[in-house]
Amino acid sequence: MRKLLPALYHSDREGRLSPETRVIAMSRGGLTDADFRGKVDAEVRDEVPIDDPAMWQRFLGRLHHVSVDVGGQNTSGWNALADLLTGYEDRDRIFYLASPPRTFGPFCREVEQAGLVTPRSRVVLEKPLGNDLPSAQRINDEVGAIFDEHQIFRIDHYLGKETVQNLLVLRFANAFLEPIWNSLWIDHVQITAAETVGTPGRRGYYDHAGALRDMVQNHLLQLLTLTAMEPPARNDRESIRDEKVKVLQALRPIAGGEVERFTVRGQYTEAGDLVGYLDEPGSTPPTEESRRVETFTAIRAEVKNWRWAGVPFYLRTGKRMPYRRSEIVVQFKDVPHSIFPGGTPNRLVLRLQPEEGIELHIMAKEPGAGETTLKPVPLSLSFGKTFTARVPEAYERLLMDVLTGNPTLFMRRDEVEAAWRWIDPILEAWKADAALPEPYPAGTTGPAGAHELLGRSGRAWHEEEL
Ligand code: BG6
Repeated sequence: MRKLLPALYHSDREGRLSPETRVIAMSRGGLTDADFRGKVDAEVRDEVPIDDPAMWQRFLGRLHHVSVDVGGQNTSGWNALADLLTGYEDRDRIFYLASPPRTFGPFCREVEQAGLVTPRSRVVLEKPLGNDLPSAQRINDEVGAIFDEHQIFRIDHYLGKETVQNLLVLRFANAFLEPIWNSLWIDHVQITAAETVGTPGRRGYYDHAGALRDMVQNHLLQLLTLTAMEPPARNDRESIRDEKVKVLQALRPIAGGEVERFTVRGQYTEAGDLVGYLDEPGSTPPTEESRRVETFTAIRAEVKNWRWAGVPFYLRTGKRMPYRRSEIVVQFKDVPHSIFPGGTPNRLVLRLQPEEGIELHIMAKEPGAGETTLKPVPLSLSFGKTFTARVPEAYERLLMDVLTGNPTLFMRRDEVEAAWRWIDPILEAWKADAALPEPYPAGTTGPAGAHELLGRSGRAWHEEEL
């Protein structure tokens, strides 16, 4: 209701869906087509611009609903789905699984048994893809037994964000950056995904996920790969993913005793009007797992290759931080020899949200006749102000890519598994550690340890006011 249907509606409104396209929702909810259309009308109508009521009605008319109990005894739902699909075997058929990962394998087996998998079928898997390497491999095997790798689309919605795609254009369609995009010129990189939201009503999921699985294994590592990857030879489905996976494979493992030095975990506690993680409403009572789960994490990562030797990549994400902001900050080194006092090193900020844009902080002279005074000023590109076209939501782009069969912005099996291979030893060390996550008051920038992680080497998180 919040992401997928609005994205499909926007695509429909802009003429990107063929007149025959149908959207068949599946749930255990026992709804009729009319019930489902009414629900969408009630819940989605206010979220999207409806300038033409007839168009909205046409969109609602594309929607159907069947009740299927995946993994259950009653198979009648599959027959209902088959009734809707029979006779349309020559069409693209997309099975989109926005359901818990344990249902991925059973779904694929059952949809195959129902005879509904055609050569033009594709399957989309929403994260989390497992909760460690073995479970991810199991899911990949189960899904891979029914669908060929080219039919499997593992979605990470961060890859559909405009700035993320722009990062590739910025790096590989401009000449000036590439010569300095390495350890000779770059001091370190910071990747932050800070959220103001907490986890009300989500404890059932979040207790087992935590920030590392929920955000780092997928979104943050994807941003890291795109920042650090070598220039691909072509802009095609495999070349880009080949380069990304090499970055993941080059990540220096953080394991055993090093985990304490290079990672930080925190959990938000009550502050002012904001409740702590353990008191979030709408969930089951907190358990020992709830006390141990991290709602914040910061990690000092390293990409061990020629280009990046010695350049730390600091990753940070948390719930209930003071601002909602996702950004990649590339911090350049100081000038080799300074003739002016008061200069600060250049910094390139790629902002994914709230305002998508790119800022290059350069030193400039403050106007005045007296002594030369330096001031860092941003050269900034705001997508919203520069381009008049509507900036599409990440899911719109990605759903269209699935429809046209373009997997470039989706994670390949080896990528997901390489990411888990790096994450698993950190999870194991945290599990073995008797200490609880460091508390941080809700609405703050995380626990003290996160600041020490950079402070140890005289660095600090980029906290500039927007
Ligand atoms: C999801 C996580 O993948 O990404 C959520 O499960 C998180 O916990 C969300 O809130 C953040 O997405 P965005 O696009 O709002 O940054």
